[in-house]
Amino acid sequence: MNIWKVFSAVALFAVGSGYAHAAGDLPTKFTNMGSIGNSRHNLTQQQASGGGPLSGAMDFSRNNYAEVCVYCHTPHGANAAVTLPLWNRTLKVTTYTTYNQLGTSTLTQTVSQPGASSLACLSCHDGQTAIDSIVNMPGSGRYSAAQTTTENTAFLDAWPGTQATGSHSGLADPGCVSCHKPGVPGATDFTAFAIGTDLRNDHPVGITFPSTNGPGTDFRTPAGVKGTTRYFDDNGNGKFDSADVRLYDTGGAVQVECASCHDPHGVPSGAPGSVFKPTFLRVANTSSALCLTCHSK
Ligand code: HEC
Ligand code: HEC
Ligand code: HEC
Ligand code: HEC
Ligand code: HEC
Repeated sequence: MNIWKVFSAVALFAVGSGYAHAAGDLPTKFTNMGSIGNSRHNLTQQQASGGGPLSGAMDFSRNNYAEVCVYCHTPHGANAAVTLPLWNRTLKVTTYTTYNQLGTSTLTQTVSQPGASSLACLSCHDGQTAIDSIVNMPGSGRYSAAQTTTENTAFLDAWPGTQATGSHSGLADPGCVSCHKPGVPGATDFTAFAIGTDLRNDHPVGITFPSTNGPGTDFRTPAGVKGTTRYFDDNGNGKFDSADVRLYDTGGAVQVECASCHDPHGVPSGAPGSVFKPTFLRVANTSSALCLTCHSK
């Protein structure tokens, strides 16, 4: 950890406290409307060339590819080992401690390892993989098939632009969370975003939805069908859209995954272009509306 960088960043960023934010979110410099580019999932932020109070702080812990989508998707050479759209991220083989291993669980079903639509998120949020660890970096000749499952620091270091070298350590200490933790003045605390590999204290994922074949007493029935995905069309527009909570087919069963509740691109709270619902949620949890989409309680 380069202490000078921490202190210079803190001095530069101390002015950052007055930014606008969406209701329910931590204060942020982003408008959280219109595009993922205006949300915390824009990992090109703080470009050195852009100047301003947020210049450069991330640049020694991740490569700045200067494209928003590329941290997750690529038009060519995608990671075909996983059923995710044009997926560009390294997915390491990781074993998670699942919810049902919590002694107090009353679940009667087995919780499986997270499915693709959770592994996508965990590839950053479990803190095990660098945020910039992708298969196909922008530009020709910057593709590495080995990156589909293995993070190769030498490959990532070959990126010629503004970059980290040797320390692409991800959403964990000593990466982003070396500054974004309690006690570092000026930096927003992101430790709650670093979910880790122990999922016992998180809403279960990789869990089968009990009542897809008919109404249950404990669960509502997702009537919408799109391919193998089932969804709740609670906004009643007859379309499968980002505001619909959904369940993913992982081979014979439809299951809850991270992207059942969250859309990583942000979901407008009203008309297109309106401020996103907090926390990348598909349904804002006001009056527990998200929970009640699935649970009849
Ligand atoms: C050297 C310390 C340092 C490191 C390392 C660092 N940041 Fe920051 N970052 C800051 C400071 C200071 C701010 C400005 C205060 C704030 O908004 O949190 C900031 C701001 C941000 C913001 C804007 C917060 C907002 O929504 O307005 C985001 C997002 C962010 N950093 C993400 C990251 C990510 C992702 C990483 C790792 C790849 C990272 N940072 C690494 C110090 C750092
Ligand atoms: C932080 C990671 C991340 C970034 C950045 C990102 N996406 Fe995605 N995207 C995902 C994930 C995860 C899925 C799959 C969600 C699921 O499993 O249902 C997805 C799915 C999609 C889909 C298909 C399903 C849908 O929601 O329409 C499209 C199209 C898409 N992304 C386009 C984009 C574009 C264009 C950008 C850049 C402007 C972008 N994404 C940036 C993570 C990301
Ligand atoms: C490319 C890495 C990456 C991927 C993939 C990713 N995230 Fe994130 N996410 C981050 C980082 C880093 C932050 C912290 C803010 C920042 O640094 O921009 C964050 C922040 C968040 C936040 C907090 C937003 C807020 O302001 O409260 C939520 C919620 C979230 N992510 C959910 C998800 C979910 C769900 C998925 C999968 C559908 C996902 N993320 C995929 C990197 C990622
Ligand atoms: C059953 C719905 C549901 C599922 C499944 C789910 N989340 Fe969340 N998540 C939420 C809600 C609701 C919040 C907002 C909590 C709050 O505001 O305190 C949230 C908050 C978050 C946050 C922000 C934490 C904070 O304190 O601001 C992150 C990061 C996140 N989720 C990531 C994930 C990831 C990664 C997965 C998959 C492993 C996942 N979520 C699965 C509903 C869900
Ligand atoms: C996408 C659908 C969905 C959403 C949204 C959802 N849940 Fe769940 N939840 C489930 C399923 C499926 C299970 C597993 C139930 C089972 O097997 O009995 C579950 C399990 C649980 C359990 C565990 C019960 C146990 O026995 O250990 C709790 C508690 C819970 N959910 C609370 C919530 C809360 C609170 C929210 C809102 C933040 C929420 N759920 C949102 C589908 C959902």
